[in-house]
Amino acid sequence: MQSTERPARIAANAHHGADLSHTGPDTPAGRYYRRFWVPVAELESIKPGRGKSVVVMGERVTVYRGESGVPHVIANLCAHRGTRLSTGWIEGECIRCVYHGWLYDAQGQCVEQPGETAGFADKIRVRSYPTQSWVGLIFAYFGEDEPPPLPQPGEWQKASLVENRNYLRQSNYLNSRENGSDWLHVRFTHRRSAFTDAGFNREIPEYDAVETDYGIRGYTRFSDGKYNVHHILLPFMSYNIIFDDVAGWVKQLGWRIPIDDENTQNYTVRLIEKSGPDLDRYLEDRQRYRDAAKDLPPAQFYVDACLNGEMHVDEVPLHHPQLVNIQDAVVLNAQPALHDRDDRLGRSDVEVILLRKLLAREIQANELNQPVKSWQWTEEQVVETGI
Ligand code: FES
Ligand SMILES: [Fe+2]
Repeated sequence: MQSTERPARIAANAHHGADLSHTGPDTPAGRYYRRFWVPVAELESIKPGRGKSVVVMGERVTVYRGESGVPHVIANLCAHRGTRLSTGWIEGECIRCVYHGWLYDAQGQCVEQPGETAGFADKIRVRSYPTQSWVGLIFAYFGEDEPPPLPQPGEWQKASLVENRNYLRQSNYLNSRENGSDWLHVRFTHRRSAFTDAGFNREIPEYDAVETDYGIRGYTRFSDGKYNVHHILLPFMSYNIIFDDVAGWVKQLGWRIPIDDENTQNYTVRLIEKSGPDLDRYLEDRQRYRDAAKDLPPAQFYVDACLNGEMHVDEVPLHHPQLVNIQDAVVLNAQPALHDRDDRLGRSDVEVILLRKLLAREIQANELNQPVKSWQWTEEQVVETGI
């Protein structure tokens, strides 16, 4: 009988000797990731003058928008007796606790304490996090030191229309990250999808991946000479030219952010480069596309039905706007986190292997207080190609 036991050497190589999948504040990966800006919510999901509580990398924080609409991120709990600040009232750019009315400014400084002696408020401050918004997302910096600049390429700044999509995956973030570096799965998981219309599924191409100034440049090469290039902008982002059901080929930025070690928030932003009558036509087509799907059950219904064996993923309606997401969720939600499994990687996993290797290298350098790579990218570096 063949042994299913794996040599320890291979297992260690699959992880490159580092814990990549836990991201809480007291973990090596968590400490590394806290050196970079992280999206924490869609701007539109919080109205000016409202707040909400979100979890990012195992850390719960308060995200609110002042009455001006400017977003702020501060600690989860009130310093007085620890209730959740997001349930309070926004006053100007400050937030007032719903329990006994302590008022905090956007830097977390307590500025008013009803019923307390003067001077006590000056001594009270909760943590605040540097906050910015860009392409419809609110970003926060969770590190203790000065944040690096938030990469904001001009083309995306000037865009007349960006479309935000965001969805939760019940899966460790690394599964989602690796899925974005895994192009063979498109041929199987997404064989009924816009990827097929775009020509991705006509054959199994060759895959390659190289390290760059910004992260990873991945290649998918077909036997007729056509090829596709995609980009991993380390540590969190991806940049792809993807085929959208309505808009055709579009540029897409993506972030896969750990909520905790079991859940991942996926944010994508698509750049719609249309204007005038073309843009009007596009918006009408987009509305028609939405209307055609408005009576369909939500994505989670199909994901659960497929995982429970009540449906095959091939039976999900082709016009479901979340078709690709559903197909990926069926795969990823069933996949244990990397620390709970033992992969057997092959040639087609070339980009997954490189991704793990680079993350492990940087996380280990950070743990040893050695310099980490300063990932730099510009629009020009990430050259677009379709197939
Ligand atoms: S718990 Fe917030 S003011 Fe008392
Ligand atoms: Fe996928």
